[in-house]
Amino acid sequence: MSTQSPKPPAITLSAAKATASRSDVLVVGVATDMSTPNHGVAEAFGRGFAPLLSTLGFEGKPGQVAKVPSAGAVKAPLVIAVGVGEPDAVDAECLRRAAANAIRAVRNSASVAVALAVTDPGRVQAVVEGLRLGGYVYDRFKSEKDSDRPRTITVLADKARGADAKAALERGLVVARAVERVRDWVNTPPGNLTPAVFADDVVAFGAAAAAPKVSVTVWDETKLAKERCGGMLGVGAGSDSPPRLVRLSYKPRKPVAHLALVGKGITFDSGGLSLKPGASMMTMKCDMAGAASVLAATLAIAELELPVRITCFAAMAENMVNGSATRPGDVLTIRGGKTVEVHNTDAEGRLVLADALVLAGEAKPDLIVDVATLTGACVVALGDRTAGVLSNDAELRRQIPDIAASVGESMWPLPITEEMAAKVKSSELADVRQHNPKPVGGTLYAAAFLREFVGDTRWAHLDIAGPAFNDTSAYDYTPKGGTGASVRTLVELASRLADGELATT
Ligand code: BES
Ligand code: ZN
Ligand code: ZN
Repeated sequence: MSTQSPKPPAITLSAAKATASRSDVLVVGVATDMSTPNHGVAEAFGRGFAPLLSTLGFEGKPGQVAKVPSAGAVKAPLVIAVGVGEPDAVDAECLRRAAANAIRAVRNSASVAVALAVTDPGRVQAVVEGLRLGGYVYDRFKSEKDSDRPRTITVLADKARGADAKAALERGLVVARAVERVRDWVNTPPGNLTPAVFADDVVAFGAAAAAPKVSVTVWDETKLAKERCGGMLGVGAGSDSPPRLVRLSYKPRKPVAHLALVGKGITFDSGGLSLKPGASMMTMKCDMAGAASVLAATLAIAELELPVRITCFAAMAENMVNGSATRPGDVLTIRGGKTVEVHNTDAEGRLVLADALVLAGEAKPDLIVDVATLTGACVVALGDRTAGVLSNDAELRRQIPDIAASVGESMWPLPITEEMAAKVKSSELADVRQHNPKPVGGTLYAAAFLREFVGDTRWAHLDIAGPAFNDTSAYDYTPKGGTGASVRTLVELASRLADGELATT
């Protein structure tokens, strides 16, 4: 059975007038002054438009949606008004959210036209992303599938026939597909996505992708032992489903930079012998979200044919308990020879990442970025919608949150303090100590530990323990369950490297 979701609606661009669209539904952005920028829909309704919407409690605020029968004012029989906020404060993220809120309100309509004032390519891309990501459903395990989704969506844009608009549509679709792929993988129940199944999936997608520039290599447990990946083997030791290290590589003809991506791929985190309480285990199928993100981002970067070489490592293992499980007190030898004293088997992510970071460094990239659902402490510090950014390079630590913000993702810098670096080196038995004896600053400690394995290469670590999974309810373009957080930032980071907007040294 496929791990992926049903086919999404087809999205096209059109230069048609909103008022003349014969779609089943016309979605229109409405600002707080009750205007419908660029589309003349308010004017077509005449003076009654504002009072009609205000009767429905609609004020044009972001997130608000109102359904209005058009009664002939425009050609489409139904209008969905979606709030875009203050007329002069509308940005791409605002439109991404509006598109998602509108599409989530569509019922029983095969065709939808979207009038959201997409006046530049960035906005076309944002609206396409919002439409796809807001309409995301994961129904693989539902006997009754939701057949109520629109089949075609037309985004109305003045310059629809221009090359820039078409490229923006394509880019939006590639990015959305990557985010959906991560959501599908994260949402797949842990018993259905063992390391071996996850690795096989990557091989299948790699083969289907922009080959021959994309290649996939999988290391199984035998090869991992030969290659001395003691962190991955130690974490996988307690599971009947052995670990896999997947290397996905994209080599464009003339790369201007080489980026290594590394992802934590714990397909289920029970905590191991340092067992988690039942309630905190419930969402731990999400613990492979970092691996899913770097893999999907790599495929997207290849599809977009960005001139950046990518070497991507996904460290896949299941953290379980049996008679062979790693014990607190054991010592593991990471690839490259550094030894680690294990204190808490629930701090497993840093152990698999250590091997993968050493491998990434061996590829001699300009830059390493790792992504991981690494610490509960990061959720305590930044909440569950913001990722932490830690780095051995002050400029990168400053730039990544800005890059994230430019694509509508939330990330925030955190320091790697001297105090934590010293504690990491305080093991009496081995080279480094895996776990902070004091339960404070856990995110900083984990990053100080990871830094031991990156050598001199410029490196940033994204802790996505909060934003990777939404365990409350859907909002804007974020559904319940897997979110795909960090994918858009990684793709944007690669495009900035491609454009020379981000230094390679
Ligand atoms: N996978 C968890 C971190 C996590 C927590 C991810 C919440 C998503 C949501 C990680 O492996 C873990 O268990 N970390 C421990 C580390 C501790 C034992 C040092 C934690 O955060 O409690
Ligand atoms: Zn854990
Ligand atoms: Zn974990």
